[in-house]
Amino acid sequence: MTDDPTAPILMFDSGVGGLSVLNAMRHVLPQAPVIYVADNAGLPYGQKTEAEIAARVSGLLGRLTERLHPRLVCIACNTASTIALTAVRDVLEVPIVGTVPAIKPAAAMTQTGVIGLLGTEATIRQGYVDRLEVQFATGKILLRHGAPELVAAAEAQLRGEAVDPAVFARAALALRSMPGGDRIDTVVLACTHFPLIAGQLGAAFGPGVRFIDGADGIARRIVHLTQGQAFDRREADLALFTRNDPGLAELYPALRASGLARFNVF
Ligand code: DGL
Repeated sequence: MTDDPTAPILMFDSGVGGLSVLNAMRHVLPQAPVIYVADNAGLPYGQKTEAEIAARVSGLLGRLTERLHPRLVCIACNTASTIALTAVRDVLEVPIVGTVPAIKPAAAMTQTGVIGLLGTEATIRQGYVDRLEVQFATGKILLRHGAPELVAAAEAQLRGEAVDPAVFARAALALRSMPGGDRIDTVVLACTHFPLIAGQLGAAFGPGVRFIDGADGIARRIVHLTQGQAFDRREADLALFTRNDPGLAELYPALRASGLARFNVF
C-alpha cells in the first residue's frame, strides 16, 4: 500500500477510449491524482496480433511504472486486458485492474435472451470472451461483432470532427443481421471507446436496446483496492502520449473535459 498521497493512478489505453473509464472513476474518487496514458503510436490495438499486443502492453507498462511509480494501474482497454492482463500481472508488482467485457451484467439484464457484443476484432476472438460466455451467458445467445471503424469514429468525434452516421448504422446492422439478431435487447460495449459514442449507437439501434459497459464496475474495484489510502491531487492531471502526432492538440479540449490539463509525450 502506498504512503505517498500524490502517487497517481495510471490509466492506460491505446487512445481516448480510457476516458470512459476515467470519467466513471472521477465520480467516485474525485481527489485521486491520475496520469492518463494513450498509446497513440500503437493505435489501433484491435487490428494487431495477440503477440504484438502482449509484447507492446507489457513492455510499455513496465517502463511506465518504473518511471511514474503509480499506486495502481488500470488497463482501461478491453483488447489489452483480454490479451495481456495475466502477463502484465506476472511482471508488475503494482495492483492492476483490467477491463472485462460486461457479459455477466448483460446476461442478467436481457429479457429476450439475445445479447450483442461490440468490440475490436482482437477482443471478440479471445478465449477470455469465450470463457465469460460459458460462465455467465449459458442459455443465452451472444452475438459478437468487431467494429474497428467505431474506434476511429470515437477518436474523430473527440477531435471535434463530424462522423458519418452510416458508421453507426453499419455496426447495428451487422449485429441485427446475424441469426437471432432481431431479438437483441442488450448490447455490451466491449471496447472503452464505445461508451463515448453511445448516443449515436443508441440512435442506430433504435428503442428497446440497452447498452452496458464495464466502467462503473472498474471504478468500484479501484475504490476497493485503494481503500484507506490518502489522495493529494496537488497538480493538474497529466495526459501522456507515445507519439507526437500533428493532430494531438485537437484532442486537448476533450481531455480537459475529463480533468486532464497537462500534456506530454512519453
Ligand atoms: N479502447 C480499446 C478497447 O477497449 C481498443 C481500441 C483499439 O483498437 O486500439 O478495446
